Amino acid sequence: MLLEVRDLHVEFKTRDGVARAVNGVNYSVAEGETLAVLGESGSGKSVTAQAVMGILDMPPGRIAGGEILFKGKDLLRMKEEERRRIRGAEMAMIFQDALSSLNPVLSVGAQLGEMYEVHRGMSRKDAKGKAVELMDRVKIPAAKERVGDYPHQFSGGMRQRIMIAMALALEPSLIIADEPTTALDVTVQAQVMDLLAELQRELNMGLILITHDLGVVADVADKIAVMYAGRIVEAAPVHEIYKAPAHPYTRGLLDSIPRLDQKGQELYAIKGLPPNLLAIPPGCAFNPRCPMAQAVCRTDVPPLYRVTESPVERTSACHFWKECLHG
Ligand SMILES: Nc1ncnc2c1ncn2[C@@H]1O[C@H](COP(=O)(O)OP(=O)(O)OP(=O)(O)O)[C@@H](O)[C@H]1O
Ligand SMILES: [Mg+2]
Repeated sequence: MLLEVRDLHVEFKTRDGVARAVNGVNYSVAEGETLAVLGESGSGKSVTAQAVMGILDMPPGRIAGGEILFKGKDLLRMKEEERRRIRGAEMAMIFQDALSSLNPVLSVGAQLGEMYEVHRGMSRKDAKGKAVELMDRVKIPAAKERVGDYPHQFSGGMRQRIMIAMALALEPSLIIADEPTTALDVTVQAQVMDLLAELQRELNMGLILITHDLGVVADVADKIAVMYAGRIVEAAPVHEIYKAPAHPYTRGLLDSIPRLDQKGQELYAIKGLPPNLLAIPPGCAFNPRCPMAQAVCRTDVPPLYRVTESPVERTSACHFWKECLHG
């Protein structure tokens, strides 16, 4: 396993109390594997990713428990120096908003080249050559002519490609992409996603893809983890989850994807809102919104049930996963 997150807890101190943003997350990514992380806004997708990258805002954030094993070693128990080395060279993150992640006063060539100068000790000239190579690799037209351009001179889609290039520069073994295409036009979204998937396969990297969009996931992911109120409520190989979800929340998400064959019909939406993280309801956090909820769901937190074992383990945190799966 490349990355294994075990029982991770993250909380934030706020004026009104402690917000429990991540409440026992478990997920794993193997070399060359793509894990898609799904869930409504505020479910803890980004906070989990920030904890893995070691870029959590602390304070107000605090890791309240758990382990994050990277190549078998717990990142949370590493010296800051080793952590920093891993963060630079072995894992990289791609964010939604390239414009605020790139430096506006440095040419993209200088920013890409800097990676090689700082981490590989290359000369400026060689580093610039590598920058052009990288821009070619992410399919930026006329890379050689554009290497001296600044971020604002590129379109949104091209900027996102530059971010991908930055992330790939040192050939990390893990990439975390947090809504990498959300800010782009729909047509450009697909191109950028295809590029990311292609490079991931070529370089055999592990990829964590955080997204709201169940539609894109089917094409690129190997497995899915669905988050709700800071927990993974269902984890499954991608094709299995589309066939038959084993959690009512996953079912709700699937039912709310617009479908071409149902044009004109009103789109299904899960009723209600995710819970306030300062006061997560007892029992299953989803129970107030769940069409299948029974008395036990209001009192007992569901454990992670094993739905199937092989080849990739499938789990559901629903007391009634069997009914959901077969229903
Ligand atoms: N720096 C912070 N201070 C206080 N609370 C925070 C901070 N960062 C995140 N949170 C809280 O943690 C919770 C989970 O946030 P997170 O960003 O992980 O959600 P998400 O699943 O990524 O949502 P989205 O889909 O909107 O990106 C949110 O309720 C948020 O308010
Ligand atoms: Mg987020």
